[in-house]
Amino acid sequence: MGQEQQPGRRLVLGAAVLGAAGAAAVGTGGSALADDRSGGRGKDRHGGRLPVPAVVAHRGASGYRPEHTFGSYQLALDMGADVIEQDLVPTKDGHLVCRHENDITATTDVADHPEFAGRKTTKKVDGKDLTGWFTEDFTLAELHTLRAKERIPQTRQRNTLYDGRWEVPLFEDVLKWAHKEGKRRGRPVWLHIETKHPTYFRKLGLELEPRLAKLLRKYGRHREDSPNFVQSFEPSSIQKLKKLVRCPGVCLLDAPASRPWDFVEAGDPRTVADLVKPEGLKWIARFADGIGPVVDLVIPKNPDGSLGEPTTLVRDAHARGLVLHPYTMRNENTFLPADFRRGTDPNAYGDAFGAFSAYFKTGIDGIFTDNPDTGLLAAEDFRSR
Ligand code: G3P
Ligand code: CA
Repeated sequence: MGQEQQPGRRLVLGAAVLGAAGAAAVGTGGSALADDRSGGRGKDRHGGRLPVPAVVAHRGASGYRPEHTFGSYQLALDMGADVIEQDLVPTKDGHLVCRHENDITATTDVADHPEFAGRKTTKKVDGKDLTGWFTEDFTLAELHTLRAKERIPQTRQRNTLYDGRWEVPLFEDVLKWAHKEGKRRGRPVWLHIETKHPTYFRKLGLELEPRLAKLLRKYGRHREDSPNFVQSFEPSSIQKLKKLVRCPGVCLLDAPASRPWDFVEAGDPRTVADLVKPEGLKWIARFADGIGPVVDLVIPKNPDGSLGEPTTLVRDAHARGLVLHPYTMRNENTFLPADFRRGTDPNAYGDAFGAFSAYFKTGIDGIFTDNPDTGLLAAEDFRSR
């Protein structure tokens, strides 16, 4: 168990010590820190530090640019995203870089580099056999010879225009960029930082948490009131991080039948279905400040793929003082609930505003989306309704 917190001593407390930076973060005067930023539709569990619902740019503005590139992060920021997400994996020489997985086959041009052909291999990552190229087999210098590309070109053909334009970002460079952009804008750039496969990397001697904590400290982002969240699908990673830094932690929750990989390795029989019960949420609230559930845990889908009735998760998590940042909303039909699809082209946009609205009505505190501009308009609609 990590450094535990008492329920109630969470993000709202952060507002009390945030001062001018927090006021600037929401673009208001200091008195607004105590205000309800949800527009009167419920308690503001970000403590006035972010709008409610907050729009988290998932891997940047990944609906429009190849994910986890400076092109994607900058566009998200320019669109006005409230928070920008990074997923972190290590290089062979221990640097943290921004990739959704350590398998970089689909998101870089590594397959076009004959000098790296011999690095293609098959590995078991979190129990799954994967064949490709992996960040932990490349030094940072080698990784920087690669270029990022669109992960889902069949769905997002337009994004392939940018294939080859950007490198794989070094996380420290993202921190420098956030600092520079924060100064330029006169308000902090919020980040939502995920440790990927932490148990797997610990076993390889490439522990993520101390590396992340060291960087957060170096850039003054380790405090309770720092403009970032740390997140993980492995609760023990949050527990480890909370021993090293004080910024808010978010426990990610996948499908009900799934088990966090650290649970599997430790022989903990609990599934996500157990963790979303009141007892499970009570346990999470001992070390985390929020949860990041897959959207289906908030509103399950009917057998035909349309939205069903909301669960009690929002109410139950809020009762434990936890914020909810569900994932992931995307504009394309193929990703939308069936009742919000429009036309027959899976890659065309459906009624994303309708779907955002349905999720916002449940009382969530924020949402991860590949389309931050759509999410921001939907959030504005929600606040002014
Ligand atoms: O971290 C929130 C969301 O990004 C989790 O899903 O798989 O996209 O990292 P994933
Ligand atoms: Ca993520």
